[in-house]
Amino acid sequence: MSQFESKTKQTKLWGGRFSEFLDAFVETFTASISFDQRLALQDIQGSLAHAKMLEKVGILTRTDSQVIQKGLHTIREDIQANRFEVSIAHEDIHMNIEARLIELVGEVGKKLHTARSRNDQVATDLRLYLRTEIDTLLQGITDLQQGLLNLAEREFDTIMPGFTHLQVAQPVTLGHHMLAWFEMLERDYQRFVECRKRVNHLPLGSAALAGTTFPIDRAYCAELLAFDTLCENSLDAVSDRDFVIEFCSHASIMMMHFSRIAEELILWASTQFQFIELPDRFCTGSSIMPQKKNPDVPELIRGKTGRVIGHLVSLLVLMKSQTLAYNKDNQEDKEPLFDTIDTLKHCLKAYAEMIPAVQVNKVAMLEAASHGFSTATDLADYLVNQGLAFRDAHEVVGQVVQLCIKEKCTLDQVPLDQLQKFNACIKADVYEVLTVEGSVNARNHIGGCAPKQVKKQVNRLRACLKERTGASAQQPLL
Ligand code: ARG
Repeated sequence: MSQFESKTKQTKLWGGRFSEFLDAFVETFTASISFDQRLALQDIQGSLAHAKMLEKVGILTRTDSQVIQKGLHTIREDIQANRFEVSIAHEDIHMNIEARLIELVGEVGKKLHTARSRNDQVATDLRLYLRTEIDTLLQGITDLQQGLLNLAEREFDTIMPGFTHLQVAQPVTLGHHMLAWFEMLERDYQRFVECRKRVNHLPLGSAALAGTTFPIDRAYCAELLAFDTLCENSLDAVSDRDFVIEFCSHASIMMMHFSRIAEELILWASTQFQFIELPDRFCTGSSIMPQKKNPDVPELIRGKTGRVIGHLVSLLVLMKSQTLAYNKDNQEDKEPLFDTIDTLKHCLKAYAEMIPAVQVNKVAMLEAASHGFSTATDLADYLVNQGLAFRDAHEVVGQVVQLCIKEKCTLDQVPLDQLQKFNACIKADVYEVLTVEGSVNARNHIGGCAPKQVKKQVNRLRACLKERTGASAQQPLL
């Protein structure tokens, strides 16, 4: 028998109108069980709610509903114990579970699919699944943010160069830099929170596309499954996948942030920068160069960004030409989504463990911050305070910098009498603003890099995170 030859031709749950057996290759080609088994527990949950609802409205007798629910519980236990056997002959997880239910409880199992279609079933399962995964991700983001706050607190007054165009620009504090990463993640967090609201709409009850002739109670299902609200149009409900696209778009933005962080970690760990040392357990060596310690983890995170963005593009293209309502194309939504979720989780875990364990080379950072005339803006600001217009001050400082380049010295090494030749209003107190410490301390306002501000901000953000962990979302009753 070839690998495509079906052994279960007669057992298709939809076999009635067919006079020819399904081509064995087509069976494999159209099956999704290899990947959608991930939805197994959500499928059980959805079916339990559906069975209870059918009983409530009198479509199923109490006994029938109880038998079905008992069967579903048995299957759930098998899934959880990893002993639920799936077969490609049943195409997807929905029909595998239904077939097993019928096998377990007999004829009554065939009644479960009343007033339901796989179209509203799969949409419901996917939303249940994604909702749980978003909750896990939100926790993962919070953990990483916590790590960033710890690092920001530890390094609140560690001076490093701030860059624009990757040229030394002005001194900043490492604590402030960590809080910039925190802010990026905070927006990612809020985007996922927003996305969860739109995920949490119940499609069940839309049936194949037009709704159903049975007197169903959709609100009851929503309550059992802890959905906030119902999808209000059956055609849209079974075909909408923009909640997946929205999720993957937020995921892509987060990965873009992760990639930027990776790029900085890689640069900072390089021999040229030597700002940080990554923990050994997060690096690998070279098979030929014995001295090498490579930043593989951030490099891989940077690399994985491409695949997540790729999944977003796949999904957009998957949807862009689909007419209402459900089309089989939609089966292709799962693998990109699942891989996006896995990738996000792995990257979050890697960063949450690696970033707080980074060793900081304060000497190298300070040294780098002192070069590149990083306090030139401070000198210009000083002159403005003495009454010059900013543009004139800018011009004067440009000339001082030229002198420093010629003399191979830093701004604070220029003697006072030399400085006064550029502008007579410069006094001895100018050296206070020319040091990198003076420079960062002077930026003491909300959003500034002063160590005092970093401390304040850390305390404020810590309190925000504490509040956040207190609020847990409503859980399904089944
Ligand atoms: N496996 C399908 C999917 O993932 C389930 C829905 C199938 N519905 C249908 N009418 N063929 O989209």
